[in-house]
Amino acid sequence: MQSKMKLTSIDLIKIIESPKNREILQAFHSRSFLKGEVLASPGGKENHVFILRSGRARIYLSSPSREFMLSILSPGDIYSTHTRATCRALEDGSMYVCPVRDFKKIAAEHSEFTMTMVTVLGELLSGSFAIIDGFAFRDTELRLTLFFYEEALLSGVDMDDGRHLELTLTVEQIAQIVGASRQMVSTLLNNMYKSGLIERRGRGKFFIPDMDRLQAAAQLPL
Ligand code: HEM
Repeated sequence: MQSKMKLTSIDLIKIIESPKNREILQAFHSRSFLKGEVLASPGGKENHVFILRSGRARIYLSSPSREFMLSILSPGDIYSTHTRATCRALEDGSMYVCPVRDFKKIAAEHSEFTMTMVTVLGELLSGSFAIIDGFAFRDTELRLTLFFYEEALLSGVDMDDGRHLELTLTVEQIAQIVGASRQMVSTLLNNMYKSGLIERRGRGKFFIPDMDRLQAAAQLPL
């Protein structure tokens, strides 16, 4: 994953704690948390905005079988309790908490809060894109690998310490079979050539150096 560079280096904690911003500090209350504590979870009744003062927290989507990591909050980052994601402390720390209705006014008057929100939301979006990408590609990649494995098994010929396969299908037709776009199948095929899973030996001609490896890549038990 790309290294995460903060768009802004605004220190919201300094702003909140500055003597000239007493009205901001009054809207927030401070609380501490322990490593592993859930700071926000889907379906939570509270509607709060919070700003980490110390410690870091992980934001992830949780399904019964898996977790999908979205982002990590660091001190100065802002988040809320009204999302479908869970936020869990990675270490002991503390935060400033404020009801959303009071926060609206503060955000309207101090652009630093909105700018930090944009940064945090941007990171969440980037995490969400990565998850969508993973789903879309991984799924198609498996179907494509399985397609080649089955074709090689059914109509391939053992030769030169590997298996030769001739296909009369175009990339467009293969894409239709595996239910993906032609561009995606092209990209995935190129990845397979690069990794040596399949070699291209001319139009519609393929060589599979190691059927066991292809079988494993298709996630079929050997
Ligand atoms: C003035 C403060 C805020 C107000 C008035 C506000 C309001 C809202 C509203 C009305 C929704 C739609 C809820 C729904 O679909 O049921 C929402 C969703 C959301 N908000 Fe906020 N919000 C505020 C602050 C924040 C902050 C500080 C963050 C994080 C940086 C945030 C992150 C999100 C996210 C990620 C969602 C999508 C939730 C989901 O669908 O799972 N919000 N917000």
